[in-house]
Amino acid sequence: MEHSALLARLGTKALVVTGAHSARANGSLADVEAALRKEGIAYAIYDKVPPNPGIADAREGAAAAIEAHADFVIGIGGGSPLDAAKAIAVLARNQLDDERLFQNAFPNAPLPIAAVPTTAGTGSEVTQYSILTNARLETKTSIASESIFPKVAFLDAAYTASLPLRVTVNTAVDALSHAVEGFLSVKATAFSDGMAISALNLLGAALPKLSGDIGPELRQSLLDASSLAGMVIAQAGTTAGHAMGYSLTFFKDIDHGRANGLTMAAYLEFLADQNEPKLSRLLAALGIPHLGALKELLDSLLGEREGVSLAEIKKYASISIKAKNIGNAPKKMAEGDLVAIYRASMKIV
Ligand SMILES: [Fe+2]
Repeated sequence: MEHSALLARLGTKALVVTGAHSARANGSLADVEAALRKEGIAYAIYDKVPPNPGIADAREGAAAAIEAHADFVIGIGGGSPLDAAKAIAVLARNQLDDERLFQNAFPNAPLPIAAVPTTAGTGSEVTQYSILTNARLETKTSIASESIFPKVAFLDAAYTASLPLRVTVNTAVDALSHAVEGFLSVKATAFSDGMAISALNLLGAALPKLSGDIGPELRQSLLDASSLAGMVIAQAGTTAGHAMGYSLTFFKDIDHGRANGLTMAAYLEFLADQNEPKLSRLLAALGIPHLGALKELLDSLLGEREGVSLAEIKKYASISIKAKNIGNAPKKMAEGDLVAIYRASMKIV
């Protein structure tokens, strides 16, 4: 409410984009509606974003935006509604087939976007990425365009207070994967490294405390880390963890953050074997003495690994090696390297 005037700068009619339940349960939707009423901004609500939304979901939301004559979009939720809001903002202003949607050049500027994260992990509120499930390619594909950076993000950890422990852990691991992959990306800069180190400091302190009761300070720390790590990947991109994680999500329905965490230790061991020089700085920023201790921490957070067959692993590796973000890894990766990382990370059945 305090910052409601920031919304008035974006337009006069909003489409509020969210999922079916959580934004109502955690109070964020009511706060956004109150802020809109205070500013005299008309709005419509599109609350049909499913987990891992696809292109068809974004098209449906864009039709709602057009029907409502919305001139800006407010995304409320975890990564799924926020990413959907960005794609809706593009499609409400541009008639694009699926292929052109992912070419990142839009004839008309997308609608302006405000973001209200209600989980602490995706960082989508501060990135130019919209990641959508692509049924044709059997993975996730992303729109990456500076035109879909949210104009404003509201970070209130109170909206994350009621998240179950499992969601809190998985999303925190997503934030960790952004800081880790972005820090070790070939596109990393001194600026993105500064934010990555800050995120790793916060996460190194927070992750061992993620069991049982999670108080407001720890929640704010996770949300701050998540947005810092989001700014890291906005600059430096993600790398192999996300590329490999998409197959685990698409084929095994494993949560996005968890999927990235499952392969993280083996990916870092792959880099350690090749003497990646930034690994020691990464561990120091986390306050973790050696890679084995990070693996133990991840094991304690993630628990038992899901079972996959070798045939499945080969399929996932053949898909992941084609992902654009594989090229951001600091060491060249071959399909066989990905097979080895999946094998070391999953339970083979
Ligand atoms: Fe992610």
